[in-house]
Amino acid sequence: MSGSRITVTRPLVGSWREILVEAGEVVLVGTPERCDRDRLRRELATADALVCLLTDRIDRELIEAAPRLKVIGNCAVGVDNIDVQAAFERGITICHTPGMLTNATADLTMALLLAVARRIVEADRFVREGGWTVWQPGLILGLELSGSTLGILGMGRIGQAVAQRAVAFGLKVVYWDRQPVQEAQSIPAEYLELDDLLGQSDIVCLHLPLTLETEQLMNRERLGAMKPGSILINTARGRIVDEEALVQSLRSGHLSGAGLDVYEREPEIHPGLLELKQVVLLPHIGSATHRTRTAMASAVCRDVVKVLGGQRPEHPLVV
Ligand code: DGY
Repeated sequence: MSGSRITVTRPLVGSWREILVEAGEVVLVGTPERCDRDRLRRELATADALVCLLTDRIDRELIEAAPRLKVIGNCAVGVDNIDVQAAFERGITICHTPGMLTNATADLTMALLLAVARRIVEADRFVREGGWTVWQPGLILGLELSGSTLGILGMGRIGQAVAQRAVAFGLKVVYWDRQPVQEAQSIPAEYLELDDLLGQSDIVCLHLPLTLETEQLMNRERLGAMKPGSILINTARGRIVDEEALVQSLRSGHLSGAGLDVYEREPEIHPGLLELKQVVLLPHIGSATHRTRTAMASAVCRDVVKVLGGQRPEHPLVV
């Protein structure tokens, strides 16, 4: 294994390189901003391992260009950037980061939820722009969390961590998933059918993986089924939401606000979203804490070294 070649698309955080060199030669292809696809394809021709990010599209063409590849370490929990089928057909192990970004992403979801419900960004702008001349009883009124209902779509680790935080804020929590989740009972969070959840929730937040079933789940019809005046929060994947339909819902006032960390065509933002002051927009920073990003990088690199050394990785993708 010490003679292995490990291709890394872009630099990670922490001591990733020190971990990987235990297994062989490390070739860094890109910069944080850019990873040239042609150069990556050339490097993959002799690579035993690939370490990549969610911004790197690892499709069948690239996988076929990598005849020696044994392992792909994706520094993310979501693997929608990889053609998993193509990798598995070749017997390539995929490692990712489940459980490592749960708290960071749940915290960020609450931050967005509070920012939209209490109009924090709008209020900050108002102060900076000199708009605040006198205290007024009706100035920048928002939604009170206590007593409101939060609907969570996707009750996996992150959904549950958000539910626990939401309960502490006095929110009633309901959720929808493919099936009821045992752990939700003790939070407590009540299982509802999707349409019931959309009709009853003051805030809906998304914690689903991007799959063929969840792509565009929040389409025009489902956005229309949301309670009038409600808020949508998305820290999962942008393509779960029809962004054009979301803009229409916000423009018409059917939804009162949205908090988005992820987008259909990152880093492109729908121009309609940029115009709406009731929308808070973040640059996909759900897991962006020093501790979490360091842990994600180390875990993926340690797993890649394990696979190259013929050992079982700790976090293989199992489908
Ligand atoms: C993931 O890991 O899938 C996140 O989106 C990255 O923060």
